[in-house]
Amino acid sequence: MSHRLVVLISGRGTNLQAILEAIARDQLTAEVALVVSSRADAGGLDIATRAGIPTAVVRRKEYPGRAEFDQALCKVIDDHHPDTLVLAGFMHVLGPEFVNHYPGRLLNIHPSLLPHYRGLDTHARVLAAGDSDHGCSVHFVTEELDGGPLIARALVPVLANDTEETLSKRVQSREHVLYPLVLSWRASGRLRLTEKGVELDGRLLPPEGFQLDWEDHPGPVSVAASDFGR
Ligand code: GAR
Repeated sequence: MSHRLVVLISGRGTNLQAILEAIARDQLTAEVALVVSSRADAGGLDIATRAGIPTAVVRRKEYPGRAEFDQALCKVIDDHHPDTLVLAGFMHVLGPEFVNHYPGRLLNIHPSLLPHYRGLDTHARVLAAGDSDHGCSVHFVTEELDGGPLIARALVPVLANDTEETLSKRVQSREHVLYPLVLSWRASGRLRLTEKGVELDGRLLPPEGFQLDWEDHPGPVSVAASDFGR
């Protein structure tokens, strides 16, 4: 049976689009069973509808507290029996009810080299700090905001004339490679969260996860655990 993904979004859905393209190219053997949005006007909902994927909208403001919001999300999601939950620009903090309902099955992408620049406005903060390296990270989600065990990071150089817009575009282009790559590991049963940390092909990854350099252009299944010694 194919690996079932449920993708949670709040916005444009370019990561969702990249995941769907990777599936269409057979670089990711999985199906998107459901797209859940916290906003009715999220562009990602149109992408899902065009691809014939069921959608649901669960708005935070319709629930008195986070626990009720979390429960409503779980209820919608569980009907679709996900193997992996994919946070792709879902702009709400999820509470323990939600996170602990999906142990080892909940992934997030964040536009910075975690553990640096958790939270919002990462590109502006990187520019203000004068950093020369930036990037994006995929991690397992725990109760700690942007703090779960790292799976992989993609490095992006910061250029002298970068603006927030040019930098965010460059980071997003790497998100669209990194997330399908990580999901292909997950869908083929190669990636696990264990008590010791994150394992790929039975080998423990370093705390910063796998590193995708700016020059690397891997097909999603072509990176092996043996590449880690670099
Ligand atoms: C992505 O850049 C993702 O890293 C970010 O939201 C964007 C969603 O874009 N997520 C976060 O900031 C979560 N902390 P998309 O809707 O086009 O995929």
